[in-house]
Amino acid sequence: MSTAKLSPLSAQWSMLSLADIDPFPAYEILRERGPVIWDPGMNCWLVLSYELCKEVESDEGTYRIVVADAPPLSFEIKGGKTAVSSLLGDDHTRMRRLYLNLLGPSMMPKYRDEHVLPVINDAIDRFADAGRAELSSQFSEVVPARIMASMFGLPWKDDGLLADIEKWHGDIVTWVGMGYSGEEVTRKAKLASDKLNEVFRPLVLARRDERGDDIISQIWTQAPEYYGPVSVDDVLAIVRGIEIAAGETTTNAIANLFYLFLTNPEIRDAASSDHEAGLNRCVEETLRSLGSVQWRYRVANRDLTLGGAAVKQNDTLCLVNAAANRDPEHYACPHSIDLERKSPADHLAFNVGPRVCLGMWLARLMMRESMKAIMNRVPEVRLDPEEEAPHFRALSHRSYGPLHVVF
Ligand code: HEM
Repeated sequence: MSTAKLSPLSAQWSMLSLADIDPFPAYEILRERGPVIWDPGMNCWLVLSYELCKEVESDEGTYRIVVADAPPLSFEIKGGKTAVSSLLGDDHTRMRRLYLNLLGPSMMPKYRDEHVLPVINDAIDRFADAGRAELSSQFSEVVPARIMASMFGLPWKDDGLLADIEKWHGDIVTWVGMGYSGEEVTRKAKLASDKLNEVFRPLVLARRDERGDDIISQIWTQAPEYYGPVSVDDVLAIVRGIEIAAGETTTNAIANLFYLFLTNPEIRDAASSDHEAGLNRCVEETLRSLGSVQWRYRVANRDLTLGGAAVKQNDTLCLVNAAANRDPEHYACPHSIDLERKSPADHLAFNVGPRVCLGMWLARLMMRESMKAIMNRVPEVRLDPEEEAPHFRALSHRSYGPLHVVF
C-alpha cells in the first residue's frame, strides 16, 4: 500500500514521505500524537519536543551514537576511526580539544581573511557582470567546499577536482543513508573513499614532513599535545571527517539565509543594517526556523520511558531538531521570524551536549560573510519572477532552492 497520501495522524505515516516538501506543517500535526512517536517507515522513534531532544543529546550514557554499532567497513569508507564523530568516551573528549583549538573562535579572524573572503569574492566575481545568477549552484553549493579546500591547502579553484570530491562525498552519504547496505551502493562508496584517499593522503604525507600554515600541518603539530601521537591514517581520518561534516550542512544553511533575505523584508532590513548584531540575529533565526540538518539519530542503551513512549533497549531515536526548534512549549510564535528572541542562539541546529557541532563558529562565519558580500556587491539582488520559485529540497539535510536572482 502506498503511504504517500496518509495523514501524519495515521500510525502508518512515515517521515520518508516529506522529501522535497515543506516539512513543518507535518511536524505540527505529528505533535498532536505526542512528543515521541513511532515511525514505521524509518523504523525508529521520532522525538519532536525541544526539552526531550536536548535531554537525549545531553545524555550519552543512556543514548549512544549510531556509529557505536556501525560495521568496520563504515569506518574504512569514511576514512578511518580517528575522526572525532567516530570516537567514544575519553578518546572523544581528548580529540574534541584538538578540534576546538583548530576550529574554535580564536581562529576565525585568520580563516576569514585567508580563506572565507577570497573564496566568497571569487564566487561573486564569476557572476557579478551577468546581472543574474542561480545562487544555489553558483554560490551556496560551491563556496563551503572551496573554503574547506583552501583551508586544507588544495587547489580550491580547480572546479573539476571539487566537483569530483562533492560526487564522492555524495556516494558515501547515500551509502550511510541506506544503512551501510546494498551491493552497488557499497561498491560506489568504497570506490569514492579510495578516490578521496588518493586526493588527501599525499597532502597528509607532505605536511608531515614539511609543515605549512594550513590546517593539515596544524593537526600534525598540535595533535600530540591535545590527543597524543597520530599516524598518517589518523590524520587522514580527521581531515576526511572535517571535510564531510562541513560541506552540505553549511551549503544548506547559506541557501536558507539567502532565501529568507530574498523573501522576508524584516530579515532583509536587519541584515542590511550597519550593525553586525542584526545580521547575527538573522543567522540564528535561519538556523532555528529552517534547520539545514533536520535530524540526528541515537540508540537507547536500555529499556526506558521517554515522553510517554515505551522505548526498548537498542531502539533507534530520531531527534528531529528542526521540529524541536519550533516547539511551542519553548518558543513563543515558533513559526514566525522573530529577531528579538531573548536567547537567539539557544536552538538545536548544532545539537547540544557532548557532541555539539565543532564547526559552528566557522559555519556562522561562512553564513555571515556570504550574506554581507552579496549585500555589498549586488545590493539590488532579488528573486527572478520569470524563473522557477524556490522550494524545500531533499529530506534530512535540506534547504530552499533553486535561488534564481536578478540584480
Ligand atoms: C550550518 C552548518 C552546520 C550544521 C547545521 C551542523 C550541524 C551539526 C550537528 C547537528 C552535529 C551533531 C551530530 C551528532 O551528534 O549526531 C554536528 C557535529 C559536528 N560538526 Fe557540524 N554542522 C555544521 C557545520 C560544520 C562545519 C563547518 C564543520 C567543520 C568545519 C563541522 C564539524 C562538525 C564535527 C567535527 C562534528 C562532530 C562533533 C562530535 O562528534 O563531537 N560542522 N554538526
